[in-house]
Amino acid sequence: MTTDPEGSIESGEFRAALGRFASGITIMSTLQGGVAHAMTANAFTSVSLDPPLVLVCVDHGVRMHDAVLDCGYWAMSVLTDSHRELAGRFAKSGRDLYGQFDGVATQAGPKTGCPLIEGALSWLECRTWATYPGGDHTIVVGEVLSLGSGQPDDPTALIYYDGQYRALKGS
Ligand SMILES: Cc1cc2nc3c(=O)[nH]c(=O)nc-3n(C[C@H](O)[C@H](O)[C@H](O)COP(=O)(O)O)c2cc1C
Repeated sequence: MTTDPEGSIESGEFRAALGRFASGITIMSTLQGGVAHAMTANAFTSVSLDPPLVLVCVDHGVRMHDAVLDCGYWAMSVLTDSHRELAGRFAKSGRDLYGQFDGVATQAGPKTGCPLIEGALSWLECRTWATYPGGDHTIVVGEVLSLGSGQPDDPTALIYYDGQYRALKGS
């Protein structure tokens, strides 16, 4: 095998390789000028226990980018398989900003007021702690202000693997 550390990476290959890293699915939400906005996100991970930090990578091109940087507060809801349709809905580019939560059962987060999806496996509310450049994304690190684990009727996790939504049954 020849090596070429300067060789370029083709975006399809990048997506295919990273798609083999199975992830959970979340809905990230924030409030911009009092308007609730949300998007589907899987570039989410824990960072630190003390202080409690998580991060999410937000594409420069999505409306969430400016909304979350402006607001400084945001929430993450970890989805169950029963939220599959919602995951698709909140990933659709250019959906109506004002009607995007129509018919979606939510609760206002106790610390931030950001919408939390009813029946989520777990949820977190965050205050932006730091932001870092990450190529065409901004890495938004959040200090966790509150969190909880739900008792959903369907505890089957919604997973994204190899470009598709999948279900992962709990034990
Ligand atoms: C499975 C999945 C995971 C996604 N994860 C992220 C993510 O972590 N960060 C991100 O910026 N966009 C992510 N997206 C894309 C956004 O959900 C999508 O571009 C956004 O909702 C577009 O919203 P807008 O029209 O308001 O800009 C993901 C999409 C899908 C289908």
